[in-house]
Amino acid sequence: MLLHIPNILTREQVTAMRTAIDAADWTDGRITAGNLGRLVKRNRQLPENSPVALEQGRIIEQALAASGLFFSAALPARTMPPLFNRYGAAGNETYGLHVDGSMRRVPDSPLWLRTDVSSTLFLCDPEDYEGGELVVVDTYGEHEVKLPAGDLILYPSTSLHRVEPVTRGERVCSFFWTQSMVRDDAKRTLLFEMDQAIISLRAQYGESAQTLSLSGHYHNLLRMWAET
Ligand code: NI
Repeated sequence: MLLHIPNILTREQVTAMRTAIDAADWTDGRITAGNLGRLVKRNRQLPENSPVALEQGRIIEQALAASGLFFSAALPARTMPPLFNRYGAAGNETYGLHVDGSMRRVPDSPLWLRTDVSSTLFLCDPEDYEGGELVVVDTYGEHEVKLPAGDLILYPSTSLHRVEPVTRGERVCSFFWTQSMVRDDAKRTLLFEMDQAIISLRAQYGESAQTLSLSGHYHNLLRMWAET
């Protein structure tokens, strides 16, 4: 499932976040790429342990915790601290077609995180740059994504994807991985669509024996499939 979640951050939050991160020290983006990614990745990132990245990442984590749509779609067990990247027109920065590594070390912990869901949160507007589309490939073809500042796109980490070369301006985003309580994208999608249908039925007709029964089925499926 590819899902656009609008307004994870407000305009004011994006502006404050850009002020903080733009002034920080950026390094070569290949620091977090695996052997495959390193060959096709050309961008800049904030180091994972940079105080600015950690502090701004916490603001994103709080915003995610307040989003019912993110919870319903990702069913997060745990999320890696958000990272920040930028692609500029100088050097036509880009990230060629790749797949994200399946397991990542949780910083300062002996734990590993399985990457089930990838998210990109846009911290710039589409007018700020040319190129830079996130292209996600699935069985239905290629999907190009370029969203307003503060909006998020969520997609299965199993997908091949790339970021097109930036030819004007600069593309600034945060990105992070989530281990889901439900590892299979098809099951997660089914649960998400069911949850959203129940919410919309309830909004339209109020609580009824039927919505109650459907909620029971939703939770029983989640109980059957969830692992934490
Ligand atoms: Ni990637």
